[in-house]
Amino acid sequence: MDSLRIIQLDCSFCGKLKELHNECLPMVHYSDDSYGEFLKLPQFKTYGFVEQNELLGFVILTVNQDEADVVSVCVNPNYRRKGIARRLLAYSCNINKIKTLFIEVLESNSKAISFYKGIGFQQVGIRKNYLNNENAIVMRLTLLSIN
Ligand SMILES: CC(C)(COP(=O)(O)OP(=O)(O)OC[C@H]1O[C@@H](n2cnc3c(N)ncnc32)[C@H](O)[C@@H]1OP(=O)(O)O)[C@@H](O)C(=O)NCCC(=O)NCCS
Repeated sequence: MDSLRIIQLDCSFCGKLKELHNECLPMVHYSDDSYGEFLKLPQFKTYGFVEQNELLGFVILTVNQDEADVVSVCVNPNYRRKGIARRLLAYSCNINKIKTLFIEVLESNSKAISFYKGIGFQQVGIRKNYLNNENAIVMRLTLLSIN
């Protein structure tokens, strides 16, 4: 894992971002244009866990001052349970000075819910009929800043 690094992704990763997203979250469809926007538009921050130009995982956030929403977090199935998603979120929050992070996650996505609970997210609401008639759980993580 030593040669791995987290970088802010640019447009050269558009194809890899789409491929990994479709592999990890096939039920969530984005248009081809959306992937370009995640990498180009200033309201999105997209970070990748990269090894020798291979994209092993990524996180996409929308950031508004010290709050952010997680649009998506995905890790290549062969590299899961190695702390990649956790490190991507930690890095993104640190570099953007985020104090509150929100995520909406489908009720059936028990692995992701375990992941989010494991790093301290708490359920704060339900979004009815979020996707394909399925509800999403709204979760929030409050990060302490200690001076
Ligand atoms: C959810 C996901 C991003 C986690 O990525 P990851 O790199 O494997 O997660 P980490 O290794 O950082 O996990 C940290 C902790 O989260 C929890 N966790 C992660 N995956 C878990 C699983 N499958 N089952 C239970 N707990 C899990 C554990 O507490 C884990 O710590 P541990 O391995 O020491 O027990 C990954 O499984 C994934 O890409 N899933 C498909 C896409 C998705 O559902 N994304 C979230 C919705 S936006």
